[in-house]
Amino acid sequence: MKKSDLLKSITTKKLPTHIAIILDGNGRWAKKRGLPRTIGHQKGATTLQEIIKTCSNLGIKYFSTYVFSTENWQRPKSEIDFIMNEVRKICKDYQKLVKQNIKVQIIGTKEKLTEDMVTSLEMLMEKTKTCTGMTLLLAFNYGAKKELVDCIKKIVDQVVTCKISLDDISEQTIEENLYTKDIPPVDFLIRTSGEIRVSNFLLWQIAYAEMYFTKILWPDFHAKELYEAIYEYQQRHRRYGGLEKKI
Ligand code: IPE
Ligand code: IPE
Ligand code: MG
Repeated sequence: MKKSDLLKSITTKKLPTHIAIILDGNGRWAKKRGLPRTIGHQKGATTLQEIIKTCSNLGIKYFSTYVFSTENWQRPKSEIDFIMNEVRKICKDYQKLVKQNIKVQIIGTKEKLTEDMVTSLEMLMEKTKTCTGMTLLLAFNYGAKKELVDCIKKIVDQVVTCKISLDDISEQTIEENLYTKDIPPVDFLIRTSGEIRVSNFLLWQIAYAEMYFTKILWPDFHAKELYEAIYEYQQRHRRYGGLEKKI
């Protein structure tokens, strides 16, 4: 289908409220071209800006993207520094997001981050906090297992200080103590680059997400590829353990 026909077709049906993307394949994209991995990350950052804009223009309410995981510290320092710098650029360029009325929420841990990185991220959230359009969740220094550990610690603390009792703990209690408090669950999870795994991303929040895996490497994932993914999502039947529920 042509890009314009795809766009027309998806906007006449129900769009996912919350899209999450595991952007993967920057390194392989560069390697294929005989370039250093960092160039793949640079190109990947441009693609991210394009997809953020595309989601926002489509009217997507929540868009989560995995930018740096708690496991990515295992990479060479030079590559980590480069990624950190790309994120710093996104922070400095906050006006671009404000113009699109996008509110940014960072999810992840501050552990191991430099003070100036934490300040940049807090500034980005502060500068966009009154925006009323799409919420962009940047998963940065994020790991779902770490999020669950932090969540459990918060709940245990509430129990030992008698703010809540053991019997009060419900699924809602967990949701209220995750980094994604007040954010609806993920409807549609996309991963690029051909890897069929979730790599410690939003484990609780994807419990009933539709999943889409594409071999396309992240720097090659453009608006048309996003429309194709959403088109497929709209052909799915979400049952949630019950009976037929058409999207
Ligand atoms: C995804 O691309 C970006 C990050 C994890 C930061 P990769 O860097 O993982 O690229 P590949 O998977 O090695 O190709
Ligand atoms: C997942 O990609 C993390 C991010 C996209 C930030 P990785 O490339 O780090 O994941 P694995 O190693 O393939 O599981
Ligand atoms: Mg990868």
